[in-house]
Amino acid sequence: MDHNKQQETAHKPVKRKEMSRRQFLSYTLGGAGAFMAGGAVLPMIRFAVDPILQKKESGGFVKVIEESQVTSEPTEVKFKIHQVDGWYESDPKLAAWITKGDDGKIYALSPVCKHLGCMVSWGGDAAPNKYHCPCHGALYSKDGQALKVAPKPLDEYEVRTENGWVYLGPIIPNSRV
Ligand code: FES
Repeated sequence: MDHNKQQETAHKPVKRKEMSRRQFLSYTLGGAGAFMAGGAVLPMIRFAVDPILQKKESGGFVKVIEESQVTSEPTEVKFKIHQVDGWYESDPKLAAWITKGDDGKIYALSPVCKHLGCMVSWGGDAAPNKYHCPCHGALYSKDGQALKVAPKPLDEYEVRTENGWVYLGPIIPNSRV
């Protein structure tokens, strides 16, 4: 580059890229609008999604009866559990038939008939020494084994004993038959 050209370049006025008033306004208003919209929308998104992200309550155990009251004759207990499922909280009432087996272990059967879901009862004149379902005549043994009509044994509750009390947990498939 010769000397003259160098001088020309050195004296050229620097062109500044200036922002027009219109651009400035649209950037400023756009930014402020986005900020305010975010402030309004983010809490709503969080509210909508939060229950899904939260850990579901693990199947807790519920204290239902004193261990000393459980005998080889099934006893019916009724209890409530607290359930949280996403946005929906409920306290359904449940029932169980609790028995001490020949092995000395306490077990609890769900009363929900495995035919079509009616509630079974223990014994009585209708079916001495058996569970029976009033809807279509299903019969079950004391361990919950299906003897008539129903295709499967009665489900069980998970059972824990602590300080002389029996606690029931989630329902599981029958492990006794
Ligand atoms: S529902 Fe129990 S026998 Fe049908």
